[in-house]
Amino acid sequence: MNVFITGNSSGLGLGLTEELMARDAIVWGMSRRGCPLKAKHDDALRDRQQDLGNLNQVEEGLDRLLSDCLRLDLVILNAGILGRIQDIAQTDVHDLEHIMRVNVWSNKLILDWLIERQIPVRQVLAISSGAAVNLSYGWGGYSLSKAALNNLVKLYAHEMPDTHLTAFAPGLVDTAMQDYLCGEVDSAEYPSVQKLKDARGTEDMPDSRQAAARILDLLDELRDQHESGSFVDIRTMG
Ligand SMILES: NC(=O)c1ccc[n+]([C@@H]2O[C@H](COP(=O)([O-])OP(=O)(O)OC[C@H]3O[C@@H](n4cnc5c(N)ncnc54)[C@H](OP(=O)(O)O)[C@@H]3O)[C@@H](O)[C@H]2O)c1
Repeated sequence: MNVFITGNSSGLGLGLTEELMARDAIVWGMSRRGCPLKAKHDDALRDRQQDLGNLNQVEEGLDRLLSDCLRLDLVILNAGILGRIQDIAQTDVHDLEHIMRVNVWSNKLILDWLIERQIPVRQVLAISSGAAVNLSYGWGGYSLSKAALNNLVKLYAHEMPDTHLTAFAPGLVDTAMQDYLCGEVDSAEYPSVQKLKDARGTEDMPDSRQAAARILDLLDELRDQHESGSFVDIRTMG
Protein backbone atom coordinates (compact mmCIF):
# COMPACT_ATOMS: atom_id res chain seq x y z
CA MET A 1 0.00 0.00 0.00
CA ASN A 2 1.44 3.41 -1.03
CA VAL A 3 0.47 6.29 1.26
CA PHE A 4 1.25 10.00 1.24
CA ILE A 5 0.59 11.76 4.54
CA THR A 6 1.15 15.32 5.72
CA GLY A 7 1.92 16.32 9.29
CA ASN A 8 3.47 13.05 10.40
CA SER A 9 6.12 14.45 12.75
CA SER A 10 3.81 14.23 15.77
CA GLY A 11 0.32 13.43 16.99
CA LEU A 12 -2.22 11.64 14.82
CA GLY A 13 -0.02 11.78 11.69
CA LEU A 14 2.82 10.10 13.55
CA GLY A 15 0.45 7.47 14.94
CA LEU A 16 -0.93 6.82 11.45
CA THR A 17 2.58 6.48 10.03
CA GLU A 18 3.57 4.00 12.76
CA GLU A 19 0.43 1.97 12.21
CA LEU A 20 0.78 2.06 8.41
CA MET A 21 4.38 0.87 8.65
CA ALA A 22 3.31 -1.91 11.00
CA ARG A 23 0.89 -2.90 8.21
CA ASP A 24 3.78 -2.92 5.68
CA ALA A 25 2.73 0.23 3.83
CA ILE A 26 5.21 2.45 1.98
CA VAL A 27 4.82 5.95 3.42
CA TRP A 28 5.78 9.32 1.98
CA GLY A 29 5.57 12.03 4.65
CA MET A 30 5.79 15.80 4.78
CA SER A 31 6.06 18.09 7.81
CA ARG A 32 8.34 20.87 9.08
CA ARG A 33 10.12 18.83 11.77
CA GLY A 34 10.24 15.55 9.86
CA CYS A 35 9.06 12.10 10.90
CA PRO A 36 11.13 10.69 13.79
CA LEU A 37 10.47 7.03 12.90
CA LYS A 38 13.02 4.67 11.38
CA ALA A 39 11.86 2.25 8.74
CA LYS A 40 12.80 -1.42 8.52
CA HIS A 41 14.21 -0.73 5.03
CA ASP A 42 15.08 2.56 3.27
CA ASP A 43 12.22 2.53 0.80
CA ALA A 44 9.47 2.04 3.41
CA LEU A 45 9.53 5.64 4.67
CA ARG A 46 10.42 8.70 2.59
CA ASP A 47 10.33 11.95 4.40
CA ARG A 48 10.56 15.61 3.47
CA GLN A 49 10.76 18.58 5.81
CA GLN A 50 8.47 21.17 4.31
CA ASP A 51 6.53 24.14 5.60
CA LEU A 52 3.07 23.69 4.07
CA GLY A 53 2.24 27.26 5.09
CA ASN A 54 4.70 28.45 2.49
CA LEU A 55 2.46 27.90 -0.51
CA ASN A 56 5.06 28.96 -3.10
CA GLN A 57 7.20 25.94 -2.25
CA VAL A 58 4.61 23.20 -1.95
CA GLU A 59 4.73 22.13 -5.61
CA GLU A 60 8.52 21.87 -5.67
CA GLY A 61 8.44 19.92 -2.40
CA LEU A 62 5.96 17.44 -3.89
CA ASP A 63 8.08 17.11 -7.04
CA ARG A 64 11.07 16.19 -4.92
CA LEU A 65 9.35 13.89 -2.46
CA LEU A 66 7.09 12.00 -4.85
CA SER A 67 9.32 11.93 -7.94
CA ASP A 68 9.26 8.12 -8.22
CA CYS A 69 5.72 7.54 -6.96
CA LEU A 70 3.50 6.05 -9.67
CA ARG A 71 0.27 5.56 -7.75
CA LEU A 72 -1.12 6.17 -4.28
CA ASP A 73 -3.62 3.96 -2.50
CA LEU A 74 -4.19 6.58 0.15
CA VAL A 75 -3.52 10.29 0.67
CA ILE A 76 -4.01 11.57 4.23
CA LEU A 77 -4.22 15.36 4.40
CA ASN A 78 -3.55 15.49 8.11
CA ALA A 79 -1.31 18.52 8.78
CA GLY A 80 -3.23 21.16 10.65
CA ILE A 81 -2.95 23.93 13.19
CA LEU A 82 -5.44 25.06 15.79
CA GLY A 83 -4.54 28.70 16.29
CA ARG A 84 -5.64 30.26 19.55
CA ILE A 85 -9.02 29.79 21.20
CA GLN A 86 -10.20 33.38 21.40
CA ASP A 87 -13.00 35.70 20.33
CA ILE A 88 -13.17 35.98 16.56
CA ALA A 89 -13.44 39.75 16.94
CA GLN A 90 -10.08 39.75 18.73
CA THR A 91 -8.38 37.50 16.16
CA ASP A 92 -5.90 39.12 13.78
CA VAL A 93 -6.90 38.54 10.17
CA HIS A 94 -3.30 37.63 9.31
CA ASP A 95 -3.44 34.81 11.85
CA LEU A 96 -6.65 33.62 10.18
CA GLU A 97 -4.92 33.76 6.80
CA HIS A 98 -2.11 31.58 8.11
CA ILE A 99 -4.51 28.97 9.48
CA MET A 100 -6.26 28.91 6.10
CA ARG A 101 -2.94 28.47 4.28
CA VAL A 102 -1.95 25.42 6.34
CA ASN A 103 -5.38 23.83 6.88
CA VAL A 104 -6.97 24.53 3.49
CA TRP A 105 -4.87 26.00 0.67
CA SER A 106 -1.88 23.67 1.04
CA ASN A 107 -4.35 20.80 0.60
CA LYS A 108 -5.71 22.41 -2.57
CA LEU A 109 -2.17 22.59 -3.94
CA ILE A 110 -1.54 18.94 -3.09
CA LEU A 111 -4.73 17.80 -4.84
CA ASP A 112 -3.92 20.03 -7.84
CA TRP A 113 -0.45 18.52 -8.04
CA LEU A 114 -1.80 14.96 -7.96
CA ILE A 115 -4.29 15.76 -10.74
CA GLU A 116 -1.70 17.60 -12.84
CA ARG A 117 0.89 14.79 -12.55
CA GLN A 118 -1.84 12.23 -13.29
CA ILE A 119 -0.95 10.11 -10.27
CA PRO A 120 -3.81 7.67 -9.69
CA VAL A 121 -5.14 8.00 -6.14
CA ARG A 122 -7.62 5.50 -4.74
CA GLN A 123 -8.67 7.32 -1.58
CA VAL A 124 -8.18 10.71 0.08
CA LEU A 125 -8.80 11.31 3.77
CA ALA A 126 -8.72 14.99 4.70
CA ILE A 127 -8.53 15.23 8.49
CA SER A 128 -11.27 17.61 9.51
CA SER A 129 -12.93 18.12 12.88
CA GLY A 130 -16.26 18.35 14.63
CA ALA A 131 -15.34 22.03 14.91
CA ALA A 132 -16.19 22.34 11.21
CA VAL A 133 -19.87 22.06 12.07
CA ASN A 134 -20.04 22.92 15.80
CA LEU A 135 -18.72 26.47 15.41
CA SER A 136 -18.36 26.78 19.19
CA TYR A 137 -17.51 30.10 20.84
CA GLY A 138 -13.77 30.78 20.57
CA TRP A 139 -12.92 28.23 17.87
CA GLY A 140 -12.97 30.91 15.12
CA GLY A 141 -10.03 30.35 12.76
CA TYR A 142 -9.98 26.60 13.28
CA SER A 143 -13.72 26.18 12.69
CA LEU A 144 -13.63 28.39 9.61
CA SER A 145 -10.71 26.46 8.16
CA LYS A 146 -12.19 23.01 8.79
CA ALA A 147 -15.57 24.10 7.36
CA ALA A 148 -13.70 25.32 4.28
CA LEU A 149 -11.78 22.02 4.14
CA ASN A 150 -15.05 20.07 4.17
CA ASN A 151 -16.30 22.13 1.26
CA LEU A 152 -13.00 21.86 -0.59
CA VAL A 153 -13.26 18.06 -0.40
CA LYS A 154 -16.82 18.15 -1.72
CA LEU A 155 -15.77 20.33 -4.65
CA TYR A 156 -12.79 18.13 -5.56
CA ALA A 157 -14.99 15.03 -5.46
CA HIS A 158 -16.65 16.35 -8.66
CA GLU A 159 -13.27 16.65 -10.36
CA MET A 160 -11.62 13.43 -9.19
CA PRO A 161 -14.14 10.78 -10.32
CA ASP A 162 -11.69 7.88 -9.86
CA THR A 163 -10.78 8.84 -6.30
CA HIS A 164 -12.89 8.49 -3.16
CA LEU A 165 -12.57 11.58 -0.96
CA THR A 166 -13.73 12.05 2.62
CA ALA A 167 -13.43 14.97 5.02
CA PHE A 168 -13.05 13.01 8.20
CA ALA A 169 -13.40 14.08 11.84
CA PRO A 170 -11.21 11.71 13.88
CA GLY A 171 -12.83 12.40 17.26
CA LEU A 172 -10.74 13.43 20.24
CA VAL A 173 -7.12 12.28 20.09
CA ASP A 174 -4.55 12.85 22.82
CA THR A 175 -1.94 14.99 21.01
CA ALA A 176 -0.07 18.27 21.39
CA MET A 177 -3.23 20.05 20.26
CA GLN A 178 -4.94 18.75 23.40
CA ASP A 179 -2.00 19.92 25.56
CA TYR A 180 -2.93 23.44 24.59
CA LEU A 181 -6.72 22.99 24.76
CA CYS A 182 -6.75 21.13 28.08
CA GLY A 183 -3.78 22.91 29.66
CA GLU A 184 -3.99 26.52 28.62
CA VAL A 185 -7.58 27.40 27.73
CA ASP A 186 -9.83 28.57 30.57
CA SER A 187 -13.08 26.61 30.44
CA ALA A 188 -14.84 29.29 32.48
CA GLU A 189 -14.20 31.62 29.56
CA TYR A 190 -14.66 29.09 26.73
CA PRO A 191 -17.02 26.37 28.08
CA SER A 192 -16.67 24.03 25.08
CA VAL A 193 -13.16 22.97 26.22
CA GLN A 194 -14.54 21.47 29.46
CA LYS A 195 -15.68 18.28 27.69
CA LEU A 196 -12.13 17.86 26.32
CA LYS A 197 -10.67 18.21 29.81
CA ASP A 198 -13.20 15.64 31.07
CA ALA A 199 -12.36 13.22 28.24
CA ARG A 200 -8.57 13.36 28.63
CA GLY A 201 -7.18 10.19 30.17
CA THR A 202 -10.37 8.24 29.36
CA GLU A 203 -11.28 6.00 26.42
CA ASP A 204 -13.08 8.99 24.88
CA MET A 205 -9.65 10.42 24.00
CA PRO A 206 -7.44 7.58 22.70
CA ASP A 207 -3.75 8.08 22.04
CA SER A 208 -2.67 8.70 18.48
CA ARG A 209 -1.65 5.10 17.74
CA GLN A 210 -5.00 3.71 18.95
CA ALA A 211 -6.88 6.37 16.99
CA ALA A 212 -4.78 5.62 13.91
CA ALA A 213 -5.56 1.90 14.02
CA ARG A 214 -9.30 2.60 14.26
CA ILE A 215 -9.18 5.09 11.36
CA LEU A 216 -7.27 2.70 9.09
CA ASP A 217 -9.76 -0.07 9.90
CA LEU A 218 -12.58 2.20 8.70
CA LEU A 219 -11.14 3.01 5.25
CA ASP A 220 -13.13 0.36 3.37
CA GLU A 221 -16.36 1.35 5.12
CA LEU A 222 -15.78 4.98 4.18
CA ARG A 223 -15.36 4.03 0.53
CA ASP A 224 -18.27 1.57 0.48
CA GLN A 225 -20.88 3.42 2.51
CA HIS A 226 -20.25 7.14 2.06
CA GLU A 227 -20.50 9.15 -1.11
CA SER A 228 -17.24 10.70 -2.25
CA GLY A 229 -17.00 14.27 -0.99
CA SER A 230 -18.86 13.57 2.27
CA PHE A 231 -17.97 14.84 5.71
CA VAL A 232 -17.93 11.89 8.13
CA ASP A 233 -17.43 12.08 11.89
CA ILE A 234 -15.91 8.90 13.37
CA ARG A 235 -18.38 9.22 16.26
CA THR A 236 -21.21 8.42 13.85
CA MET A 237 -19.58 5.21 12.58
CA GLY A 238 -20.19 1.74 14.01
N1 LIG B 1 -6.17 15.96 18.44
C1 LIG B 1 -7.47 16.01 18.27
O1 LIG B 1 -8.27 15.78 19.19
C2 LIG B 1 -8.02 16.36 16.90
C3 LIG B 1 -9.41 16.38 16.76
C4 LIG B 1 -9.95 16.68 15.51
C5 LIG B 1 -9.10 16.93 14.45
N2 LIG B 1 -7.76 16.90 14.61
C6 LIG B 1 -6.91 17.16 13.45
O2 LIG B 1 -5.92 16.15 13.36
C7 LIG B 1 -4.81 16.65 12.63
C8 LIG B 1 -3.53 16.33 13.38
O3 LIG B 1 -3.51 17.09 14.58
P1 LIG B 1 -2.85 16.56 15.94
O4 LIG B 1 -3.90 16.57 16.96
O5 LIG B 1 -2.11 15.31 15.68
O6 LIG B 1 -1.87 17.78 16.30
P2 LIG B 1 -0.29 17.89 16.31
O7 LIG B 1 0.34 16.86 17.17
O8 LIG B 1 -0.03 19.33 16.60
O9 LIG B 1 0.14 17.56 14.82
C9 LIG B 1 0.01 18.48 13.77
C10 LIG B 1 0.85 18.00 12.60
O10 LIG B 1 0.69 18.96 11.54
C11 LIG B 1 1.95 19.37 11.10
N3 LIG B 1 1.98 20.76 10.66
C12 LIG B 1 1.49 21.85 11.31
N4 LIG B 1 1.80 22.96 10.64
C13 LIG B 1 2.50 22.57 9.54
C14 LIG B 1 3.11 23.28 8.46
N5 LIG B 1 3.10 24.61 8.37
N6 LIG B 1 3.75 22.56 7.51
C15 LIG B 1 3.82 21.20 7.59
N7 LIG B 1 3.25 20.49 8.58
C16 LIG B 1 2.60 21.17 9.54
C17 LIG B 1 2.87 19.22 12.32
O11 LIG B 1 4.21 19.03 11.88
P3 LIG B 1 5.38 20.12 12.08
O12 LIG B 1 5.07 20.90 13.31
O13 LIG B 1 6.60 19.27 12.16
O14 LIG B 1 5.35 20.94 10.83
C18 LIG B 1 2.34 17.96 12.97
O15 LIG B 1 2.96 16.82 12.40
C19 LIG B 1 -5.06 18.14 12.42
O16 LIG B 1 -5.56 18.38 11.13
C20 LIG B 1 -6.13 18.44 13.46
O17 LIG B 1 -6.91 19.55 13.10
C21 LIG B 1 -7.19 16.62 15.82
